[in-house]
Amino acid sequence: MNAGRIVALVPLLALLPIAASAQYPVRDGTAANMEPYTFAAADFGIDASSVTYSKDIAPILQRSCESCHRVGGGAPMSLTTYGEVRRWSQRIKERTAIRDRMGAMPPFYVEPGLGIQHFKNDPSLSDHELALIQAWADNGAPQGNPADLPEPLDWPEDRGWALGEPDLVVSSPLMTMPAVGPDRWGDIGMVPTGLTEDRWVKSVEIREINDIPTDAEVTTVGGRYIFHHMTYTSGVLNEDGTGLVGESTQGWPIHEVGRNADVFANGLGMLLPANSALSLRASHLHSTGWRETSGRLEFGFTFHPEGYEPRYRRSGGSGGDGINIDVRPGIGGQEFHSYRVLEEHTMITAFEPHLHAPGMRMCLEAIWGINRFTLNCVGYDHNWVKQYLYEEDHAPLLPKGTILHTIGFVDTTPENPNLADSRNWAGGGRRSVANMFIDLGQSVRLTEEQFQEEMARRRALMKDRNEYDIACPLCWAPEFRAVTEEEDQGGAP
Ligand code: HEC
Repeated sequence: MNAGRIVALVPLLALLPIAASAQYPVRDGTAANMEPYTFAAADFGIDASSVTYSKDIAPILQRSCESCHRVGGGAPMSLTTYGEVRRWSQRIKERTAIRDRMGAMPPFYVEPGLGIQHFKNDPSLSDHELALIQAWADNGAPQGNPADLPEPLDWPEDRGWALGEPDLVVSSPLMTMPAVGPDRWGDIGMVPTGLTEDRWVKSVEIREINDIPTDAEVTTVGGRYIFHHMTYTSGVLNEDGTGLVGESTQGWPIHEVGRNADVFANGLGMLLPANSALSLRASHLHSTGWRETSGRLEFGFTFHPEGYEPRYRRSGGSGGDGINIDVRPGIGGQEFHSYRVLEEHTMITAFEPHLHAPGMRMCLEAIWGINRFTLNCVGYDHNWVKQYLYEEDHAPLLPKGTILHTIGFVDTTPENPNLADSRNWAGGGRRSVANMFIDLGQSVRLTEEQFQEEMARRRALMKDRNEYDIACPLCWAPEFRAVTEEEDQGGAP
């Protein structure tokens, strides 16, 4: 599609947001579809020749890239000074322009202009920012006036905590992996939390601390970390401290390298009881391929204030189908579908597509009555498992009876760079050469009263009845009230 020509024919439309989204490439879940999002600076009233690193680009990199692209940040190169950034200008342009596709930077793949667009900790770039980057790179990546530079950000020496200093840090045992060797799966033991009272957890962030020098030239994520993932539970320690009391155990969101921290929705928490421990049941560790490495995981918890009681209950169950999938060799655009009926009023607080190497994309739809809503479509890159946390005022608020339709898109052609071998059939399974199709997202159950209250709150945020909240299908439905006894006896009200 030639976006430039459309804009030239209908110049006025370029001013309307609707025209901007009409230029977006259509994603079909195939690896061949890499069409970038391209924008002309002039459409945003920007003089392309005036765009400079100091004035326009450095602030974007500070906000969306430096958390990883700095010394000790985990990415292969630092992007904090003009000297560092300049030679990457073309790659920066390319990687940011694919936006919601495998390989995009920053790794956050929500398709814009479709479904819900309000997420917590969203590092993605706006159309305007992409226009700036594209104009700048095409124009020879000029530095501009260093006096225009924003104040440098003050990053911690180590990786730091993305969510800020936690209230409690619990460490796993130190594990050592040889430079080259087979992967290691299994239980790595229990670690007490040391809590002497019950605390409700507001967020949890997990980071790997290891002895790889922060300035080592490592070009792969697997070369920098040894923990691939960790599935863990918590519970109250039994009397002799050798296990967890059965009914107190609960599973936590998984740790996977590259996955963002978990912030539980307002009104929700997870309990870490007094005298509890984390049971690090299912770890997967691997060699870095270049040096013996010792590392451990730190679990950083932040708490709700003492005396806090959560308003909502977590809802079990998620979408997708981990088992009955049939992934054919050498075919792009294969789709998986799963349907789940919500048995209670539900607020979805996070969407977390989980596919394996052939995964390209996942969409989530809500089907209610005769309506079918696309809640979100997001790209997928198995090098980066991402979780999308809805902002409170935009979280899907779905009545009981809604059918959640999850659609996974996979590509097993050689064009998919994440795939080891495109010739094999694969089904569901735990190994990376087997497949998964799951939404690991989170949701809460609402009582009738909570559901009505939450809808009233959301209606109040809308300006008029022409405004539509895609995430709240019943927000404008006629208000529901119980039939009075009189009406019940006297026939139709
Ligand atoms: C969450 C961490 C993270 C963030 C945020 C991030 N990157 Fe990256 N970036 C990485 C890692 C890790 C790699 C190497 C692995 C890969 O390519 O996926 C990488 C690779 C790249 C590459 C490719 C390097 C090459 O060898 O070709 C470019 C270019 C890049 N990033 C630019 C950016 C820009 C620009 C931003 C912000 C708009 C950004 N990144 C945000 C972690 C990050």
